[in-house]
Amino acid sequence: MSRHAARLTGFGTTIFTEMSALALRTGAINLGQGFPDTDGPREAVEAAVTALRSGENQYAPLPGVPALREAVRDHQRHHYGLEPEEVLITFGATEAIAAALLGLCDPGDEVIVLEPYYDSYAACIAFAGARRRPVTLRPPDFGLDPDALAAAIGPRARVLLLNTPHNPTGRVLDRAELELIATACREHDLICVTDEVYEHLVFDGRHLPIATLPGMAERTLTISSIGKSFSFTGWKIGWCSGPGELVAEPTGCGDAPLSVVAPDV
Ligand SMILES: Cc1ncc(COP(=O)(O)O)c(C=O)c1O
Repeated sequence: MSRHAARLTGFGTTIFTEMSALALRTGAINLGQGFPDTDGPREAVEAAVTALRSGENQYAPLPGVPALREAVRDHQRHHYGLEPEEVLITFGATEAIAAALLGLCDPGDEVIVLEPYYDSYAACIAFAGARRRPVTLRPPDFGLDPDALAAAIGPRARVLLLNTPHNPTGRVLDRAELELIATACREHDLICVTDEVYEHLVFDGRHLPIATLPGMAERTLTISSIGKSFSFTGWKIGWCSGPGELVAEPTGCGDAPLSVVAPDV
């Protein structure tokens, strides 16, 4: 008899573990896992070493170190003109996605998700007891099909899990596509959880966060991390920003609304 919870039936190891082991076994070049060949900025490594040597080694406040939360807020303001009410620091973007889905979905709720998708999405949706409703991005341009989006939204739809710039297609959703998604979220009262870890790896044009579209800041949880932008995938430092009630409550961090200027404790 299986020792797993029934909702995890069919989930094995991650695709990264599988592909990396295969590459090791066969001596193949490992294109399966997205980490860079070079480390990020030396100054960042030095700053981390200095912090560790100067005694920054004990529990941090659960929502994250205030200076880092403030830096994330500054980043959202500087690059996109966003003013998130709350910022929460997480164990990579992956934990932020998991916490958001666990905090927002009841068993039987549906999560609309662009397919193909990052490996952890399906497992996190299953952990939440929710159902996955994929909207497939098809070649050659991997654009968003408005009919497929409309067809995926049923009465139990609760969350739209967006990923742009998109892994693995590399597609950067344009304004018209984001407006379609935003309209759907507003009309069906969906929360948009948006994974923007590739926000700074755009070669043509610019990444547009969906939270900047009218009426979206109040229903969007924006997630990103240090891994891709700074080439420090091993540090696993991520964050989630958005309205206070969405960041503080579903993620269960803090018994009072979090303030980005909360004193260090
Ligand atoms: C779309 C997407 N989201 C999240 C992650 C993981 O982010 P983190 O390492 O910050 O958990 C990846 C890693 O490949 C990814 O491709």
